[in-house]
Amino acid sequence: MEQFVFEYQHITQSTLSPTIVQLVTMATEATESAYAPYSQFKVGAAVLLENGNILTGSNHENASYPVGICAERSILSTLNPLYDHHKIKAIAVSYKSEQKNASALSPCGMCRQAILEIQLAQKSPIEIYMCSPSGAIIHVPDASYLLPFYFSNAML
Ligand code: THU
Repeated sequence: MEQFVFEYQHITQSTLSPTIVQLVTMATEATESAYAPYSQFKVGAAVLLENGNILTGSNHENASYPVGICAERSILSTLNPLYDHHKIKAIAVSYKSEQKNASALSPCGMCRQAILEIQLAQKSPIEIYMCSPSGAIIHVPDASYLLPFYFSNAML
């Protein structure tokens, strides 16, 4: 029997570096720009580039539901062509909802696959900070930990 073992950490804001505090704060603030009239679940994502820049995105839903896009893929699709030569160091995701606020937001499978495409292309790990409005944060040091047996261009 083989095993897939990965590291993750429950952390609090007080133990984060100032840069990561800013990243998490900007992900939380980005929920304000979400357009989520159908789910009422506003998601914000913030991406830290190796040059220190932070860019944010949010989810945008559509009356034709599958047309909607998650916060993570919304910012990644903008940033890719704009910041071609800057690697991504970390991504923080957070949310705002009337219903829930305790659990850290765990990126959906499609967003995990999208993040991995960039991690594989840049050949360096992307850290993920999964946040909640209540302040709970889960940190994963490598995006591949969130998607074992991911599909990659090595299979094409
Ligand atoms: N959503 C995201 O923006 N990111 C995720 O990783 C999970 C889900 C959005 C999609 C939809 O607009 C709303 O959250 C409820 O599923």
